[in-house]
Amino acid sequence: MSLKDTLNQEDALNQEDSLNRKSSSNQPDSHQTSNVSWNSNAGKDPLDRNVCICKKVTRRTVIDTIKARHLTSVNAIRCFTEANTSCGACYDGVKELLDQTLAARNSG
Ligand code: FES
Repeated sequence: MSLKDTLNQEDALNQEDSLNRKSSSNQPDSHQTSNVSWNSNAGKDPLDRNVCICKKVTRRTVIDTIKARHLTSVNAIRCFTEANTSCGACYDGVKELLDQTLAARNSG
């Protein structure tokens, strides 16, 4: 199995995991619903807030890495930043940063 196949398989599993998490809305996600988990970000520039709590990866790090390495997938972001490589709760946040950065790249 090639690295690309492995990355595609991981991406599919994470998307499935993300969908499963959304469907079990009566079980709160401690990273996304607890104010206590996000308090370390209070008062910081939004770009310096962690998008991935587990690996302490900031939005700025993700965006800068996407731009510098011309990344186009969450799997590639995982490889270069370690964001979204633990519990998976930050998948949507990382994907949103990717989509926004690619949209800005394509429009400019
Ligand atoms: S918040 Fe757990 S892997 Fe990113």
